[in-house]
Amino acid sequence: MKIFNTKIAGTGSFVPDRVVTNHDLSQRIDTNHNWIVERTGIHERRISDLSKGECPSGMAKIAAQKAIEAANLTVNDIDLILFSATLPDQSMPNTAAVLQEKLGITNHCGALDVNAACSGWVYLLPMADAMIKTGLYKHILVVGSEMLSAFNNWDDRNTCILFGDGCGAAVLGRASENEDSKIFSSILTCDSTKKDHLTLMAGGACKRITHEVLNNNEQWMTMNGQEVFKAAVKTMAGHAEKVVKDANLSMEDIDWFIPHQANLRIIEAVGNRFNIPINKVIVNVDRYANTSSASVPIALDEAIREGKIKRGDHLLLATFGAGLTAGAVCLQY
Ligand code: ACO
Repeated sequence: MKIFNTKIAGTGSFVPDRVVTNHDLSQRIDTNHNWIVERTGIHERRISDLSKGECPSGMAKIAAQKAIEAANLTVNDIDLILFSATLPDQSMPNTAAVLQEKLGITNHCGALDVNAACSGWVYLLPMADAMIKTGLYKHILVVGSEMLSAFNNWDDRNTCILFGDGCGAAVLGRASENEDSKIFSSILTCDSTKKDHLTLMAGGACKRITHEVLNNNEQWMTMNGQEVFKAAVKTMAGHAEKVVKDANLSMEDIDWFIPHQANLRIIEAVGNRFNIPINKVIVNVDRYANTSSASVPIALDEAIREGKIKRGDHLLLATFGAGLTAGAVCLQY
């Protein structure tokens, strides 16, 4: 069987215009700009506006159009949509199906939603890679689109300061014979012993949204921040080390480290373990906060469009999220 190499053919991203600063939050809850910056590195976040269609599929439409254009393709070249969202547009139909219609794709390509929380988009990369490598699909649209503002308790200072909305997308395709692009290695894990540290229990099949649920404020995300922090540093560092080794590379060979944008202290702690200088780390958590599974593809797209990341560069991506899921990928762009 012929094996193809997988290439990130094009990327795109979208963040809502509406900016919510730390100062804005301090008008509502007992917090302040300095505390948030010191503990997280976050200065502001973007919050979507449903009246402008900025739901997961709506944000994804714009990011995906940019990714398809950057890949020099048209919408009907896409033969599979993989969509990561922690909270989809709705339970049925899936958000990938809604996106197919919004993009005007008429080829009836497969359309699948995945939820691995913040790790979702990185989780999808090895899956898309396997399907492209084996020749099953030619052009896979991989989307991470998140509207965390919908389940962020804006009265809980432990969580609401951390999150924002946005979308990142990439088209994965086959590298041609004369191109170096490839996905070298990956790891996907989940430590369910820590699953209760980050939850949103109501709204699924086991606990429908009822008056009682609303009265108990159970419709919001809850988090044990310190446990998530410790697990994030340990797991991302371990995974990063493994995929670089599996790629037969060393940390010095990595041109750009693109970590999940949850907290600058987590990013710095992981980078420091490997002496990765901060100027090799893509950081936008200051502007967008944690956009869950959109965070890595937004950071990737911005760095490509700014001309930081160039063809041939070695990239290290690492993420973690509720579950606690985690993943890392080492690739040549
Ligand atoms: N403003 C001011 N003070 C605050 C705030 C706030 N927004 N939040 C908490 N505090 C107070 C606390 O009440 C506490 O006060 P006390 O000492 O009087 O009790 C003090 O600040 C310290 O609180 P800690 O929780 O110990 O603060 P910590 O340094 O751990 O930082 C944080 C909290 C920022 C949440 C950190 O733990 C963190 O980033 N954890 C990782 C979270 C994360 O990345 N989650 C995303 C997961 S990805 C996904 O799938 C969604």
